[in-house]
Amino acid sequence: YYGAVINPQSLTAYQALPHCLLAVGPIGTIDWIVDDVQEYELQDALAAKGCIDVDVVALRAGEFLMPGFVDTHTHAPQSPNIGSGQQYELLDWLNHVTFPMEAKFADVEFARHTYESVVRRSLDSGTTTCCYYGTLHLEATKILADIVHARGQRAFIGKCNMDRNCPDHYIEPSAESSIADTLSLISHIRTLSGTAAPSSPPTSPTSPPPLVHPILTPRFAISCTPKLLSSLGALASSDPTLHIQTHISENLSEIAFTHTLFPSLPHYAAVYESFGLLRNNTVLAHAVHLSPPEIELIAKAGAGISHCPTSNFNLSSGVAPVGVYLDAGLKVGLGTDVSGGFSPSILVAVQHASIASKVYAVQHAQRKRDKEAKAKEVDDDGIEIPAITPIPTPAPAPPPTCTPPTFTNRQLPVPTLLHLATLGGASVCALDHAIGSFAVGKSFDALLVNTRNDAGNPALWSPDHDPALGRERLEGLVERFLFCGDDRNVERVWVAGVCVGGTAWRG
Ligand code: GUN
Ligand code: FE
Repeated sequence: YYGAVINPQSLTAYQALPHCLLAVGPIGTIDWIVDDVQEYELQDALAAKGCIDVDVVALRAGEFLMPGFVDTHTHAPQSPNIGSGQQYELLDWLNHVTFPMEAKFADVEFARHTYESVVRRSLDSGTTTCCYYGTLHLEATKILADIVHARGQRAFIGKCNMDRNCPDHYIEPSAESSIADTLSLISHIRTLSGTAAPSSPPTSPTSPPPLVHPILTPRFAISCTPKLLSSLGALASSDPTLHIQTHISENLSEIAFTHTLFPSLPHYAAVYESFGLLRNNTVLAHAVHLSPPEIELIAKAGAGISHCPTSNFNLSSGVAPVGVYLDAGLKVGLGTDVSGGFSPSILVAVQHASIASKVYAVQHAQRKRDKEAKAKEVDDDGIEIPAITPIPTPAPAPPPTCTPPTFTNRQLPVPTLLHLATLGGASVCALDHAIGSFAVGKSFDALLVNTRNDAGNPALWSPDHDPALGRERLEGLVERFLFCGDDRNVERVWVAGVCVGGTAWRG
């Protein structure tokens, strides 16, 4: 591929490379990348790499390649509910809207039909890696795995474990049957992808690692008996490569209920930790209201946070302090949380993550002003009483020589948003060694983004597309794509080098 490339590097930086040459090998991994190759140097650059007679895909001005999006949290069976039931908060929403829909997936034909469209829409939105929740049904979740496998998406797929505090018509009969079905799904997925241990490195450089992985999915602490949680913990400890996903501290009523179910434990995160479910391949969705000891515990375990801002706004759950988590060193990615969230696109999650960080910063500034106003005492007539001159405090200590980046109480800048959508999500999935950015040996999981007028998105309309697009103009395009782009601008979607979606994809 030859043209503009966007390459996330860290929480605070990404590369914008207007003239990049990137080579993808036969198993879909990146062979080499050369930057700053002018058009007249192209043949020489190829020859220098020993490439004669290779196909070069040349991007047009206004197009760029970037790593595919990682959706670290979504519910495939909730897709038919998108945009409905938003008057509820979490627990009522589950009972009135979500569980009735999920129960319908007992019908495998309904499941097949729905899941085909879910996976197609996810891929066409630019999601190359997706963490899916299914329902509690084994057969329907196997179908979801089959479809994801057939469509070529990279994914983690789990069936929900839920054996208490759910309606009679939508609950697993016992912890034993929940575990038996979970084992059956794991073996189905591992057979599909032809592996015994899916997260292990490829056996030879000619065989790419599998795309589809099973993931343990205790729905949340409320819906699992201690017996079920401890059986899942035992299963997890028998196989460290098994990923785990669950919900945590999304809503205040949910947190209060969890405390009544586990009264001897100090907090919500301790529930998962005490059952062996908190580790470096655990994905914790929402985390809106974590306490400082929970943040510390999660950081120590190396678990990741799936930030789901669309859902957190939509279900009035709150605003997650993502900046605090980043400063605490937590891994953070983005989740669409369909249908708590009303869009399957990570672009929408990016936009709402930006707004959420601004809301949090504005609230912080307001709290600070309120505190200062309260500190200024007034007499009965509303006249300010002059403050007593404070005793001078000693000079502050000099700042440490290496100051960590500070995200707390600030809006998230574009490089951070891009990171959350790609490399951050990859690290939450414990796959940052393989995906999330472009580097030699990493998988070519990528998007061809078309910001030109012919993509048909009027929100990105531009009077011209400068063929000699420089770095700054390219950075401007990236920002506009993140905030105003949509599926129409996602022209091609590759997973492991294979084109599997986008507007130019013809199944
Ligand atoms: N907590 C438990 N189940 C769910 C769910 O389906 N969606 C969300 N947003 N939170 C949950
Ligand atoms: Fe969720």
